[in-house]
Amino acid sequence: MRGGGGATRRMAILTSGGDAPGMNAAIRAATLLALAEGWEVFGVSHGFRGLVDGRFAPLSPADVGPIVRRGGTILGSARCKAFFDRAARDQARARLADAGIEAVLVIGGNGSLAGANALADPREAGPSGVRVMGVPASIDNDIGFTGTCIGVDTAMNTIVEACDKISDTADAHDRTFLVEVMGRHSGYLAMTSAIAAGADAVLFPEADKSEDDIVEMVVRTVRKVRARVGRTRRVVVVKAEGVPVPVARLKERVDARLREEFDTDPETSETRVTILGHVVRGGRPSAFDRLLGSRLAHVATRALLDGHTRRMAAWVPPVAPPSEVAIKSPVDPYCWLVELGAVLVETDRLNARTSPLVEWRTRVFDQLESVLSS
Ligand code: F6P
Repeated sequence: MRGGGGATRRMAILTSGGDAPGMNAAIRAATLLALAEGWEVFGVSHGFRGLVDGRFAPLSPADVGPIVRRGGTILGSARCKAFFDRAARDQARARLADAGIEAVLVIGGNGSLAGANALADPREAGPSGVRVMGVPASIDNDIGFTGTCIGVDTAMNTIVEACDKISDTADAHDRTFLVEVMGRHSGYLAMTSAIAAGADAVLFPEADKSEDDIVEMVVRTVRKVRARVGRTRRVVVVKAEGVPVPVARLKERVDARLREEFDTDPETSETRVTILGHVVRGGRPSAFDRLLGSRLAHVATRALLDGHTRRMAAWVPPVAPPSEVAIKSPVDPYCWLVELGAVLVETDRLNARTSPLVEWRTRVFDQLESVLSS
């Protein structure tokens, strides 16, 4: 594809915010597609920070060929606070113009999509400024209007594998384990992993429980499990990081109650804590995340090359986006192209828990609470 002056047209790709397994598949798909369409493709080093500094390097098929099975992102990532300032965005736009890059694919979460939207805001960039498209990538699954984000499936598999291992040792000792997993504002990952891992209880921030209620809920779960005849007495409780009770304090309080209620044998009355932390974000992407990254990047890149801007490729939206802000992808029936501004509003509603999706999740999660430990 050639521009008006005959020069080869150029796009850039950046990954930003918390890395997510499957980002590399998105980089690969976008690069291969744009190259096949005759564009030149540049990778931006370390997200918006690299954009501001003009750190661009050409990407070839050889660069992206083998990356699909790698976790993290080959481009590097960053959380760039400076990009909230107009001056940094002006500098980024100037760097892009100097390099002859007219379009940018941004792969990342909430902050990254907000940065993308601001970068291409015509009030700052002018009507012929840089174009952007977003691809949602966040293990937290906290982005509006997409059923899932790149990285969620791999993170869930990592947690389930860890819980399976923890269950082996918990079974052996009749122990209770508190397993903390990532998820800053959203309990989605904790809840889905808990279901898939066969956990006995799950603690998620949307429930808004008091610390006392949480302690009693864990004790109640232990009581129920121990009352079962002929079954394991092990208990696995998955706690989302966003539940505002430090897991060490939770352990102390639960242990005190278990001693009161059951026995003083530390073997069965002391809980054990495992904080999975960044382990959850790393590792080889699952086949689903590789495919999801490839398909979302395909949809977003096609739209970018076709002249669209300030939209995000979304995967089967769980809440129908209003028709004035969303179109179905012409190239993938599972995907939509939703205006970035609308995505950011819906994401804020998810975080503020005013979205109907959160109301549904909270209701179902609450019901599940008693089902899991029944
Ligand atoms: O990317 C989302 C996330 O993994 C959250 O679940 C977590 O709270 C946060 O990022 C951790 O961020 P950082 O890697 O900057 O410590």
